[in-house]
Amino acid sequence: MKLTIIGTGYVGLVTGTCFAEVGHQVICVDNDAAKVEMLKAGGIPIYEPGLEELVRKNVAAGRLSFTVNTAEGVEKSDVVFIAVPTPPQTDGSVDLSFIEKVAREIAAAMTSYKIIVDKSTVPVKTGDKVAETIKRYCKAQVDFDVVSNPEFLREGFAVEDLMKPDRIVVGVRSQRPVAALKEIYAPFKSPIIVTDINSAELIKHASNSFLALKISYINAISVLCEATGANVQEVANGMGMDERIGRRFLNPSLGFGGSCFPKDLSAFIKIAEQTGYDFRLLKEVQRINTEQMDRFVKKIADTLWVLKDKKIGVLGLAFKQNTDDVRMSPAMDLCQRLLKEGASLRVHDPKAMDKARSLLPNVTYVDDLNDVAEGCDALVVATEWDEFKKLDLERARRLLSHPIMFDGRNMFDPEEMERLGWIYKSIGR
Ligand code: UDX
Repeated sequence: MKLTIIGTGYVGLVTGTCFAEVGHQVICVDNDAAKVEMLKAGGIPIYEPGLEELVRKNVAAGRLSFTVNTAEGVEKSDVVFIAVPTPPQTDGSVDLSFIEKVAREIAAAMTSYKIIVDKSTVPVKTGDKVAETIKRYCKAQVDFDVVSNPEFLREGFAVEDLMKPDRIVVGVRSQRPVAALKEIYAPFKSPIIVTDINSAELIKHASNSFLALKISYINAISVLCEATGANVQEVANGMGMDERIGRRFLNPSLGFGGSCFPKDLSAFIKIAEQTGYDFRLLKEVQRINTEQMDRFVKKIADTLWVLKDKKIGVLGLAFKQNTDDVRMSPAMDLCQRLLKEGASLRVHDPKAMDKARSLLPNVTYVDDLNDVAEGCDALVVATEWDEFKKLDLERARRLLSHPIMFDGRNMFDPEEMERLGWIYKSIGR
C-alpha cells in the first residue's frame, strides 16, 4: 500500500521503515530539512539496533523515501500516519500543537479520500479534535476517516517490537477504514483489536501507566527486601511465574525514566483530573519512583560518608540499554545529584556519550569501560547495558582506591562480588 508517515522521530522512522520492509511504499515526511538530508544520505539520527541497515536496504529498494513536503506525502498516499511529538507541558498536560498543525496541513493538501491515522500518544478524545480540525481546514469537499493506532515499541528494541507486535490496536469511528488497516498490518501476523477511537487512545495511556506501576511495585518490594534480608530477584522470579502477573517489567532499578513513562503518567493523571477523577494510585507510582532514586543516592552517601571531593565512576548514561537516548534518564539524574553533592565523575556509556556531553559538561568522559574506575572512590552502575557484565572486575578493583560498587541495575551476583573482595551494594538484595 502507499503510506505516508509524518514525523521521523523514534515512532515515525521505525514505523515507516518496517512498513517498507514488509513491502509497502512509504514516504516519511519531516519538517527538519537537515534530518531529511541525513536520512536521504543513508544516515540515521538515533541509535536503534538494526534500524540503519533496514533504512538503507529499503531506500535502495525504492520502497522508502524522505521529504520535507507534507503536501507531496498526502497527495501520493492513501493512508497518512501522524507520528509527531506530544511533549509534556509544565502542568503535566500534553502539548498537542504539533498534532493540530499537522492535521491542518493534511487537510489543506487533501484532494481525495484519505485515512488519517494517529500513532502519537495522545489524550483520549484527541481523535475527535483531529477530525473536527481536518473538516474545518479541508478546502476540497472530500471524505476522510480518522483512526487511532497507538504504537507500543520500546526504544532499544523498536525494530523487533514493530516487526513482532503483541497486538495492533485500531480505533475507528466507522468500519470504512478497517479493511485498509488490516491490509497494512497483515504481514506482521499479529492479533488486531478493533475498538472505538476513545478506547484505543485510552489503551495506550492505560498500558504505559500500568507498566510504570509494575516497576514502582517491584521497587517498593525491593525496599522491603532490603529491610528483611530477602532477595528481590527471587521474589520477582516467584511472582513472575504466575501467568497472571508475568516476570517482565519486574526488574528493580533506580526508577523508570525515558521520554514515555514519566510523561505519560503525568498526562494520564491530568486526563483523569479533567474528568473529575483523582488518580491517586498513579500519583503514588510517581512518588515511589522519585524515592527510589533518593534512596540510592543516600545509599552511596551513607557508605562514602561525605560525597564532596569524592571521585565516582559511573557506568551508563542512557535511560536504558541499547539506546543513545538520555532524555529523562535516571543515570543522568544520578550524575547531576552526585555533582551537586560535590563529587567529581568519570563516566562511560557505549552509545550515549555524544548526546550527554552538552547536558553534562563537567564530567570526564571515558572511552573504555575498563578505564572508568581509575583513581575513583567507588563505581556505580546506572544503566543495564549487557556490555557492563563484561567489566574486568579484577582490573577495576586495582584501579579503585577501595573496591566499592553501587549497582542500580542488579547486574552482578552479590555472592560472587563478595568472594572477589568487593563491597557490593545493589537493589533489594
Ligand atoms: C515504553 C513502553 O514499554 C512502550 O511500550 C511505549 O511505546 C513507550 O514507553 P521505553 O520508554 O522505550 O518504552 O522503554 P522501556 O523498556 O519500557 O523502559 C522504560 C523505563 O523503565 C527505563 O528507564 C527502564 O530502565 C525502566 N525499567 C523497565 C525498569 O526500571 N524495570 C523494568 O523491569 C523495566
